[in-house]
Amino acid sequence: MSPLPAPHDIPLPLPVSPLFLEVAIVFLFLIHILFVALMVGGSLLTVAFEIRGRRRPDCDTLAREIAATVTVNKSLAVVLGVGPLLVMNVFYTVFFYSANALTGAAWLAIIPLVTAAFLLTYLHKYTWERLADAKSLHIAIGALASVLFLIVPFVFLTNINLMLFPDRWTSVHGFLTALVLPNVLPRYLHFVTASVALTGLFLMAYFGRASYPVEGVFREFDRRALRRRFASIALGATGLQLLLGPLLFFTLPAVGVSWALAFNILAGISLALVAIVLLIHEVTAPAACLGVRYLAIATALTGTVIFMAYGRHLYRERALEPHRAAMAARTAEFGEAALAAQMRAKAGIHRTKGEVPLPPGEQVFKSICSACHARDTRLVGPPLTEVDRIYKGNPAALIAWVKAPGKKRPDYPQMPAIKLTEVQYQAVADYVLSPGH
Ligand code: HEC
Repeated sequence: MSPLPAPHDIPLPLPVSPLFLEVAIVFLFLIHILFVALMVGGSLLTVAFEIRGRRRPDCDTLAREIAATVTVNKSLAVVLGVGPLLVMNVFYTVFFYSANALTGAAWLAIIPLVTAAFLLTYLHKYTWERLADAKSLHIAIGALASVLFLIVPFVFLTNINLMLFPDRWTSVHGFLTALVLPNVLPRYLHFVTASVALTGLFLMAYFGRASYPVEGVFREFDRRALRRRFASIALGATGLQLLLGPLLFFTLPAVGVSWALAFNILAGISLALVAIVLLIHEVTAPAACLGVRYLAIATALTGTVIFMAYGRHLYRERALEPHRAAMAARTAEFGEAALAAQMRAKAGIHRTKGEVPLPPGEQVFKSICSACHARDTRLVGPPLTEVDRIYKGNPAALIAWVKAPGKKRPDYPQMPAIKLTEVQYQAVADYVLSPGH
């Protein structure tokens, strides 16, 4: 059972419309994650090619060329991360902060980890020549940066995954217990392979572009070999996604699953299949035709990413729905209680010790109704003189109203339904309709 959420004691309105925030979070997060993916994928490929480079010098050169893109993509990832983080704070405040607090130390560790990863990436990039004779050490620096780059999204993902499941919050004590949610690992692997796929796609264009001086940089590799190499990487990683995707889908807790989500995922998969077919052609095509399908591949995969990102948003909104509704109800309850207390205080109604208890009708009226109703004056609700005129001799109808008030007067707010025992309903109705009150 999910515990009752705390009410918003100071309900601040959102600064802009929720729709604006929803569009902003999907869009801003997408461009952020794009560069995160290029940073993570680039860092992994750098290490992989540098290791191969021990036997094949061109691979070492390739690693170095990729490393040069990583620091740039990393900076873009960081700068573009500010926007979605801010929107997240505003739109998912309670969920986001609850998850942050629960994953605690690991969440905070992101800052030193990211700092260390960045410094190591620069160290790696700028010691390529100096450490040429200590290649293992140089590779180790790159590998350590990669590992840190892999840890950061893992912590982040665990955290924003946890935020979707308020039901689990009571059983989570720190990062490790947050990992037990069944979909964390598939989600993470899905992210890492997507990063490699995207990086492959990016490097196809990066090394394939006409202005890139391939001949001046490499000894053996030509533009086509590079294109084909990265097309194969993109293909392999996208293919792997098709295996990991279902694993992710079927481990998703059912709370957020909907037809709309399924539709988005299917649309995304269809486009990914198109991209895969095109990539297969690209990898097996004769050299002269390399690159002609690039735009189509990139377009199909962009479509996949957009469908998946939107599906992810739908899932999130649906998973959070029950908790949001419960919180709104608690907030409304709290608001009424606070208002009633204020009104009581204003009217000077407070009970002192040893006072003789009031008759039940009067007691209910003074402790609840009087917050909004007075005899002859309008408070939050209409004066009793007006109520008397409508319900004189008909307490049953008055009781029906109190149980389920309608929306009647355009210039008044809606009266909240008041929960009482049957005896209390009867008593307060008699009290309100008795002459002299
Ligand atoms: C939080 C404020 C609030 C409290 C507490 C409250 N009311 Fe009201 N009440 C209103 C408002 C506002 C209206 C006018 C609603 C409308 O016309 O749409 C109203 C209208 C009414 C009416 C007129 C219905 C009609 O048909 O025109 C009755 C009767 C009434 N309240 C009885 C009660 C009784 C009895 C209690 C206590 C058990 C109570 N109210 C507590 C705010 C309150």
